[in-house]
Amino acid sequence: MTKATARAYPNIALVKYWGKRDSTLMLPLTGSMSMTLDDFPTTTTVERTPEAAADHFELNGEVIEGEPLRRVTKFLDLVREQAGIREFAAVRSKNEVPTAAGLASSASGFAALALAASKAYDLSLDPADVSRLARRGSGSATRSVIPHFAVWRAGDDETSVAEAIDAPDMRMIVVVVNAGNKEISSREAMKRTALTSPFNDAWVSSTEQALESMMSACADNDFTRIGRITETNALRMHATIQACDPPILYLAPTSLAIFNKVRELRESGLEAYATADAGPNVCVIARPEDADAVAAALVEFGSVRTMAPGPGAELLADSEA
Ligand code: DP6
Repeated sequence: MTKATARAYPNIALVKYWGKRDSTLMLPLTGSMSMTLDDFPTTTTVERTPEAAADHFELNGEVIEGEPLRRVTKFLDLVREQAGIREFAAVRSKNEVPTAAGLASSASGFAALALAASKAYDLSLDPADVSRLARRGSGSATRSVIPHFAVWRAGDDETSVAEAIDAPDMRMIVVVVNAGNKEISSREAMKRTALTSPFNDAWVSSTEQALESMMSACADNDFTRIGRITETNALRMHATIQACDPPILYLAPTSLAIFNKVRELRESGLEAYATADAGPNVCVIARPEDADAVAAALVEFGSVRTMAPGPGAELLADSEA
């Protein structure tokens, strides 16, 4: 095959990945756990172009150059090396995620690219191999290969892949507070955290524990424990990031107002828990039967979208692209 199309969805970590042990192999400091969403997908077609002298990258119909193109080329170089094929490629992506809004577009983007490129270059990879490859593009992409809920182990180059984990059915209410560009990328902010945050070691050890607790809460089907671990881990990540020099503040006043509102909802008997990535948007988990009431309570803070656990990376027929 010389052309293939794949689709993947973003994921939101309930136990966060924040920091790398090896930035070439993209090995994380700790394991993490996430829910894959069922909306905001990225659909990517990779077509080998034997005549071309360079890769070509289009995002939402616009030709992209500079750093994003270099990142795609660097990623395709890995695929070419594995496949023993030198041909360049045209990559056409349609991204329904608000890019750089803290909704992890690089996760769906590199998961879709990993699957489409591996097919276009005739590699026969199983989901663990696709996850390992996606990791090289963006850490969080490792998990978007997997449907519903994923655990990504820290591991080494071979074992640092994501796999499915059973968790109770839940909904994720995404509150988009500000869909504009964030000030500093998670990649840069992770480096600054490791170099300057005095809380980094505590972050690493507490996240290792949080992941073990999360695995046992999932095995027990215990939504309350899952929620508590999720919210605590997110706020610890933000505390660690805020302690950088110079400091980094991803959470906006409205983000904090949502965390407070979610606590009030719990006090009034509606169980929900909040998390936030490297941006001001807040994602709230709730049991399926509570999701509408939770979403209704959050509309005053921004645009609200309720999502269910979604599919892993999948290949599409040409007609679906
Ligand atoms: C806060 O995966 O975007 O969303 O590996 O450098 O590409 P790179 O970073 P990225 O970081 C995601 C950070 C996070 C937490 C998470 O998804 O676990």
